[in-house]
Amino acid sequence: MTRPPPLTDAELSAEALRLERSKKYKDLAPETIADVLQQENRPGAAKAKVLANARLRLHRVAAHYLGLPKFNKAQAALTAAFASGEDPQIEAACRSVLETHSSTQERLPHLRDIFDQLFQRVGMPESVLDLACAVQPLAWRFTGLPRSTMYTAVDISQQFIDLIRCYFQLEKLPHQVLRQDVFVSPVTQPVDLALLWKMYHCLEQRREGAGLRVVETTAAKAMAISFPTRSLAGKRMRFHEKHGPTLIAAAERHRWRLQTFEAPGELFHLIQKPEWETPR
Ligand SMILES: C[S@@+](CC[C@H](N)C(=O)[O-])C[C@H]1O[C@@H](n2cnc3c(N)ncnc32)[C@H](O)[C@@H]1O
Repeated sequence: MTRPPPLTDAELSAEALRLERSKKYKDLAPETIADVLQQENRPGAAKAKVLANARLRLHRVAAHYLGLPKFNKAQAALTAAFASGEDPQIEAACRSVLETHSSTQERLPHLRDIFDQLFQRVGMPESVLDLACAVQPLAWRFTGLPRSTMYTAVDISQQFIDLIRCYFQLEKLPHQVLRQDVFVSPVTQPVDLALLWKMYHCLEQRREGAGLRVVETTAAKAMAISFPTRSLAGKRMRFHEKHGPTLIAAAERHRWRLQTFEAPGELFHLIQKPEWETPR
């Protein structure tokens, strides 16, 4: 039996456009869709199989099953809360968004302690880069970060990016929001502290080596990489057992300083890169 040829560039572009316009994937960065299609276009795979595999991988990359806020309602609630000028109302509006996503819902009670652990080890950052952030930037009020910190938030989802931009504008914080795939288009601007939270294992699931590549290409003096250690339902998760050794070996190879600490449900590796410690 003859093996089907891979899809041509023209076929790949046409399929990418179809996915970009589809209800399910129109929220995602086009570069993510193109990259996933390209990756699934393996020699010998039939077109139907390439497309089915790409859709499955995009479903995992988007991870909507972790929870999505009702975006319009969330923006309206934030706008009303800021108009009231009342801190408790603003914090309640932020909390209600944070509780729609399982990562932030689980982390919220421990967030101040997590940031205090980071500040103790690396000092107060003047700039933060939140990679694949989902709704985490809306937790700014619960982090202890000063108003002067430049906060850059990056995600492939247009809806998350719009919500975060709305929040930062209402909060009047120095900020930058980027709809960008951190693997396809690494963010190379130098920062004091980068966060790659509950994402390393997802990047490795998408493509072997992708998590480490993001860590290596991020120009951060310090980078906090986290792994979930149990689900909201209390089930033990073993992502760190699987991926931690590669990260630890890379830290040794690159001579990065590595410190580890845990919060309930989440393990953090904090790396400090000597090559980014010189004045820029
Ligand atoms: C597992 S959640 C992580 C959320 C956040 N870091 C946290 O721990 O609260 C996945 C988020 O990463 C985003 N994402 C997935 N792959 C990405 C990529 N390659 N570049 C940027 N964002 C990505 C998704 O849109 C989603 O918002």
